[in-house]
Amino acid sequence: MTQFRGLSMPHGGVLVNRLLNRRDREEWLRKLDKLPKLIATPVDLANIEMISIGGYSPLTGFMDAKTYQSVIRTMRLPNGLVWTIPILLPIPEELAMEVKSSDAIVVFGKSHFDKEPKPYAIVSICDVFRRNKEDEAKFVYGTTDASHPGVERIYNEPEWAVGGEVFALEIPIHPPEIQVCYMKPASTRSLFRARGCRKVVGFQTRNPLHRAHEYLVKCALETVDGLFIHPLVGPTKSDDIPAEIRMKCYRVLVEKYFPKERVVLAVNPAPMWYAGPREAIFHAIVRKNYGCTHFIVGRDHAGVGKFYHPFAAHKIFDQFLPEELGITPIFFDDAFYCTKCESMATCKVCPHEPECRIYFSGTKVRSQLKNGEIPPPYITRPEVAIILANFYRNEGAAKAAVKRSGVECDAVRDMKNQ
Ligand code: ADX
Repeated sequence: MTQFRGLSMPHGGVLVNRLLNRRDREEWLRKLDKLPKLIATPVDLANIEMISIGGYSPLTGFMDAKTYQSVIRTMRLPNGLVWTIPILLPIPEELAMEVKSSDAIVVFGKSHFDKEPKPYAIVSICDVFRRNKEDEAKFVYGTTDASHPGVERIYNEPEWAVGGEVFALEIPIHPPEIQVCYMKPASTRSLFRARGCRKVVGFQTRNPLHRAHEYLVKCALETVDGLFIHPLVGPTKSDDIPAEIRMKCYRVLVEKYFPKERVVLAVNPAPMWYAGPREAIFHAIVRKNYGCTHFIVGRDHAGVGKFYHPFAAHKIFDQFLPEELGITPIFFDDAFYCTKCESMATCKVCPHEPECRIYFSGTKVRSQLKNGEIPPPYITRPEVAIILANFYRNEGAAKAAVKRSGVECDAVRDMKNQ
């Protein structure tokens, strides 16, 4: 029962849609003044959006205490369905006391075009509870070290949370570079079906694509019908490259180096947790909701610093039965450039000695560009390097990329015109 016309069923069987129809929306708007008010953080707003469009199916709202405890301790919802990340709506203590006697709370937020916070959702109140931050950090991230960005976020958030159903008044409008690639899970499912895809592989990323990413997604595409490039554009840690800049990189690559009829590029508005293995399962489930049958998990998926073993995100899949997940992981070893093969490779396919292997990561590419260096084309395609060099205001690197590229693209033309 995991397949539906070739695509994966939504997690839990039903694709959720929590966007209110016009009549209900107007009715709620009339009652708004009487409800307690929460000003949402960007993470809250991103979670509301994901719940509302069905990206987090079967969740229809924020977790109550029982679900929270079940998810952090057992990686399952109380009904046994696999779920590895707690989805919470934290609220300040004073408000927690106030909402205990209310049926619902109105959530105000500020998305890209809002000058002032405006109401985005109503959350019915079924539970108000205190989190156990230490346990949460230990179970979800495997550490209580506040230098981990996910743990730091927990410690900065309020101690209280409300559980309840989400009723979305509207979906945020994103900056143009993001909005142009916006698709809800229902739309990607229709698109995959319209294209006759029976097997679609999903790819998560929070970095501009380098050649290792490109190797992974193209190897995976060899074995399926479609590739779903699904960059995360919700809140990330501050030194990650902004989503608007990354979107330029993805678009130029898809335009120049991918077969358009087999590839869909759309954004994932969710926040990043940096929870390594647990987040790999969560990322797979979200992509299942968007219709994917397969999901790429490479080296140190959703990891940060040295908090996780590079292949912990592979191993965690052994803890679940394939039918419980309903989406098949495609695992990749560490991909590198081999100077003897003269191509990207992994240990699985390259017989050469370690000295021939050039390893790299998004972090390494970022620090090269920050330091005024330009990554070679076998690490970063010139079209991408120039966008990033411009972002870092690294004029030397940008000019070198223009010279090296020998290709025309928007970014190169922009650079030449500067
Ligand atoms: S992540 O936080 O979204 O995982 P990133 O965008 O760098 O970070 O990675 C996207 C996907 O590519 C992940 O599955 C990751 O494991 C994989 N990946 C990134 N670099 C490599 C590499 N050099 N070799 C193998 N897999 C990689």
